[in-house]
Amino acid sequence: MLSFSKIPNHIGIIMDGNGRWATKRGLPRNFGHKEGVKAIERTILACQKFGIKYCTFFAFSTENWKRSKEEINGIFNLLRDYLAGGDNFFVKNKVKLKYIGVLSPFPQDLQDALKDTIDKTKDFDGLVVVLALNYGGRDDLVRAYNKLLKDKVEKVDEKMILNYLDTSFMPEPDFVIRTSGEERISNFMLYQMAYSELYFPKVYWPDFNEKHLKKCLKIYQKRNRRYGGIK
Ligand code: IPE
Ligand code: IPE
Ligand code: MG
Repeated sequence: MLSFSKIPNHIGIIMDGNGRWATKRGLPRNFGHKEGVKAIERTILACQKFGIKYCTFFAFSTENWKRSKEEINGIFNLLRDYLAGGDNFFVKNKVKLKYIGVLSPFPQDLQDALKDTIDKTKDFDGLVVVLALNYGGRDDLVRAYNKLLKDKVEKVDEKMILNYLDTSFMPEPDFVIRTSGEERISNFMLYQMAYSELYFPKVYWPDFNEKHLKKCLKIYQKRNRRYGGIK
């Protein structure tokens, strides 16, 4: 049974396996990304149902620029069409959208579609969905340190670093899930994940659904978070 008293405040999802999902079916990789968007929708609705406050989806890393132009443009077009389409999922389901990462290298129409959805959903007070776009944990730290230098702070402490990271508006992730069976962080929130619980289900991201999320949450609820102490 899922206990509603021990639901993580913030979950981070490293959505992996879109390419392998498509290749397994003899389809081009971008078909996997397209199915992956449906999995994002299912997961958002499930997060609302389970009472999660923040869910961050790792959608494009600072390293993903190494992929082919075709794949990268496919992802951008998919995201733009998805956000700019008539029936906006976030507006319809009262989901507040935010992002972390650096948007400036993305095509202007994608940036506009994203900012428009962010603006239209900014007053919703339920689930906050965060897209990590052109995001890297190291890049987040480097940009934070440069902002600290610019602000001429005399001494840095841990809280200050947290406040200068892209994620400053939300709590650190309690739970990070990476699908597809790969067991690595791939430059997701490095500083913020110091005490996150981790779980690596085998399922490829496009197949992920409410049942998988429920199983992940059950596993989270069995964990004993000690933070270096004794419980
Ligand atoms: C995750 O799926 C989506 C992105 C990184 C954009 P992948 O595209 O990495 O899928 P695999 O790992 O090749 O199967
Ligand atoms: C991590 O997946 C990044 C995202 C999910 C956006 P990758 O597929 O890019 O990671 P590696 O290359 O397997 O480490
Ligand atoms: Mg991958």
